[in-house]
Amino acid sequence: MTMSVLPSSVESSTAAPSLQFPTGFVWGAATASFQVEGSTAADGRTDSIWDEFCRRPGAVVNGDCGEPGADHYRRYAQDVELMSSLGLGAYRFSVAWPRVRPSGGSLNEAGLDFYERLVDTLLAAGIQPWATLYHWDLPQALEEQGGWTSRDTAYRFADYVTSVVERLGDRVAGWMTLNEPWCAAFLGYASGRHAPGVTSPTATVAAVHHLLLGHGLAMERLRAGTSAPAGITLNLFPVRAQSASAEDTEAARRVDALQNRIFLDPVLRGGYPADVLQDLAPYGLPQLIQDGDPEIIGAPVDLLGVNYYRALLVAAPEPGTEHDGSPSEWIGAEGVRFLESGSPRTSMGWEVQPEGLTELLVHLHSAYPRVPLYVTENGAAYPDEMTPSETVLDHDRIAFLDGHLRAAHAAIEHGVDLRGYFYWSLLDNLEWAEGYSKRFGLVHVDFETQRRIVKESGRWYADVISRNGLPA
Ligand code: NOJ
Repeated sequence: MTMSVLPSSVESSTAAPSLQFPTGFVWGAATASFQVEGSTAADGRTDSIWDEFCRRPGAVVNGDCGEPGADHYRRYAQDVELMSSLGLGAYRFSVAWPRVRPSGGSLNEAGLDFYERLVDTLLAAGIQPWATLYHWDLPQALEEQGGWTSRDTAYRFADYVTSVVERLGDRVAGWMTLNEPWCAAFLGYASGRHAPGVTSPTATVAAVHHLLLGHGLAMERLRAGTSAPAGITLNLFPVRAQSASAEDTEAARRVDALQNRIFLDPVLRGGYPADVLQDLAPYGLPQLIQDGDPEIIGAPVDLLGVNYYRALLVAAPEPGTEHDGSPSEWIGAEGVRFLESGSPRTSMGWEVQPEGLTELLVHLHSAYPRVPLYVTENGAAYPDEMTPSETVLDHDRIAFLDGHLRAAHAAIEHGVDLRGYFYWSLLDNLEWAEGYSKRFGLVHVDFETQRRIVKESGRWYADVISRNGLPA
């Protein structure tokens, strides 16, 4: 049974929505395995690179780790009830590789059983299951054999994908091979701000190529095991130059190349852009590409998942400043300055720039035509004060959502084939190196008691979903 969470003022309202989304638009919310599941040693799961990274002193705020998460591994049924109460049409979750193939080795049926229970519970509630196959929890044992710097990891990933699709291929509604490979490669192997905490430009570039190869191989395995739509999720940013000067324009080109086109072009245009190949030649990119790789990586996808949080405003390095050699995720663009445009910021320090979502979607639609787009993540962390009556009046998150949904709608009006929107996140959870200190959820989680309380934003989003549009 579903319970209504709509405020009575909303339920009794008959006002027509001011902005209507297309019929069949997918309304969802997202999570990821390591961020919400907890139960990190249950049913045969072994360590991922994040379990290991969290043990490194100073790596994660407050020394937080995958325990307790939001205890979703044990409370998934209750969470599906919550999703029903919000009227969600879809739930995007990720499958943990170290549950399904512990240590990267042979199949662990008990690990897959969890995802089967989750998928079946979602389906029984009328909610589409959308599965991400890699949301950063590489088995630690594979990292010890080189992780994504090793070409073999791409093949191991494909074998793991086969295990998942053999079990769930008849029930999952949409598949994403990788989530944000930019973060996995550049935060994981360049700046070391994320697991596995490596700081090597050549390792980073190898990770980029092998992640992309893993995507292509996974697409082959998905094609063999399911007819559901499949693709990849990228974190993409409109990149704006501070001025029209040649130096600032060049800085923007480099950042756009490293952040966006390095993944978009191999997947959607069949190869790395010439400037990416040139910028990353000193780090060995051309030598990593073997015969047949571009065709594997560039095989058609059914969808592109877009994770949008903000735009980037960049300027050339200050004249006379030399890169000091400290680890940076901006390989080949070290010293480029990231400026503020003056918009309000979330607790992550990210500027709120809804218009950037329209800009990004319209750009993608024209530069990479024909691929249907889904916003697979968009959301904000805020301090979220709890009132004495135990409600979270997160009006800043409602304003964020309202602005971004209007921006998504504007893109549709420009002709963009946008088919769905997933808020990040359903639940407050482990925000990677920020630990539990940053709350993105539509649902508040008390990490000590694991009590859930739907925030005001959750009620507001439920209203949008029920109207398939925004209130006037
Ligand atoms: C990107 C990631 O996919 C997700 O795991 C993360 O929590 C959010 N964005 C917010 O940073």
